[in-house]
Amino acid sequence: MGKFIVNGGKKLKGEIKVSGSKNAALPVICASLLCSGTTVIKNVPDISDIRSLLKIIESLGCSVKFQNHTVTINSAKLKYANIEGELVCKMRASILLLGPMLARFKKVNMSYPGGCVLGKRPVDAHILALKELGCKIIDDSQHIILVTSQLKGADIIMSEISVTATENLIMAAVTAKGKTVIRLAACEPHVQDLCRFLNKCGAKIKGIGTHELVIEGIKTLKSCTYSVTGDYLEAGTFAIAAAITGGDIKITGINPHDLDSFLQALKETNVNIEICKSCICIKPSKELKAVPKIRTAVYPSFPTDLQAPFAVLLTQANGESKIYETLFEGRLNYLFELEKMGARFEIINPHQAIIKGPRKLKGVPISSWDIRAGAAMILAALCAEGKTEIDNIEYIDRGYEKIEKKLQKLGADIVRI
Ligand code: EPU
Repeated sequence: MGKFIVNGGKKLKGEIKVSGSKNAALPVICASLLCSGTTVIKNVPDISDIRSLLKIIESLGCSVKFQNHTVTINSAKLKYANIEGELVCKMRASILLLGPMLARFKKVNMSYPGGCVLGKRPVDAHILALKELGCKIIDDSQHIILVTSQLKGADIIMSEISVTATENLIMAAVTAKGKTVIRLAACEPHVQDLCRFLNKCGAKIKGIGTHELVIEGIKTLKSCTYSVTGDYLEAGTFAIAAAITGGDIKITGINPHDLDSFLQALKETNVNIEICKSCICIKPSKELKAVPKIRTAVYPSFPTDLQAPFAVLLTQANGESKIYETLFEGRLNYLFELEKMGARFEIINPHQAIIKGPRKLKGVPISSWDIRAGAAMILAALCAEGKTEIDNIEYIDRGYEKIEKKLQKLGADIVRI
């Protein structure tokens, strides 16, 4: 298992293009199981979560090629099998096979997925929504088993606004009989990307980007070539890296609108930003200011996946800032790693904390707790004095493609050992 060694204090400078979005590529790959013919998906990030998912679908009989950020999938030989094993248990996103496998075989049997430890993450929203399309749930504490004679469109109110549950329902509904209305649908940029992919394959999805989707079921989807959207979460991470090092960088390959609430919060902290059509520029800022409250919520609110990275910025801002993480109860644990580096904060409860800045951080050995907390550790190390050693970096590799190489290109002193 590798580590990152970072010597902090280097101002980042230059231009960086972000990779394709992990959270868009994962459902698009799963949705390709619904298509006849060969699907070509471009701009796919080369990260371990994608490689794991591709191994799972290859084990189910699909032919898969992954080269130069392009995935080519043919699902003609996809066979029905229980979806289980180490990879499924390790990766929560494997849940995204539920919808397409049910649509394709009228039954699905998969073991409960694992993933990052972010607190309680039930799959009830997925199962309840799919049940509304007309499938039976066979109770088994180890597996999720769903069976249907025919999926039928329905008017469904999601039990909560959940990204992957919405994606599963969309994938099951596009070939269901009749019309499906999904109310309280998640509308994150990656959910929108999945819908655009499916529409390119012939699906009839309306309301993309809103919390109400209307889907007219069609018989079959044809394959297409599709390019996955840029990763706004990676872009946000680089923006913070520049802001906390007094850097001057241009981040390309994204739609800045995906980051509207994040950019608004950055402006509130006094970060100097220029927004272009498909890029953002971070310029050296004067003193960073605390913000009264950062509240994570579903899109278009502040994204939970940028909460930990943003907290690092707040350790450098003058004053007290409150973080309110509304989605996950386990997503403030990384603060204890920042404390080892000299950050000061008060935890009010599992969802709320007050960050007290500015603090000079010092390099010490630290650990990454999940994908985004891992990115936050790198950020803290970039602005810390001295050498920081980060372990558990396999978490970071699940979501960020060669992050150390991209940061080196911008002048950071970071190596993988
Ligand atoms: N939840 C709320 N309030 C809400 C919405 C959700 O409390 O308004 C709770 C739900 O109860 C659920 C939990 O939050 O248990 C997680 O939400 P969701 O079901 O939307 O998460 P997910 O679909 O399992 C996806 C991303 C996560 C991201 C969340 C939230 C993928 C593959 N995963 O997970 O990404 O944090 O949505 O936006 O798309 C990551 O990339 O590092 C990651 C963890």
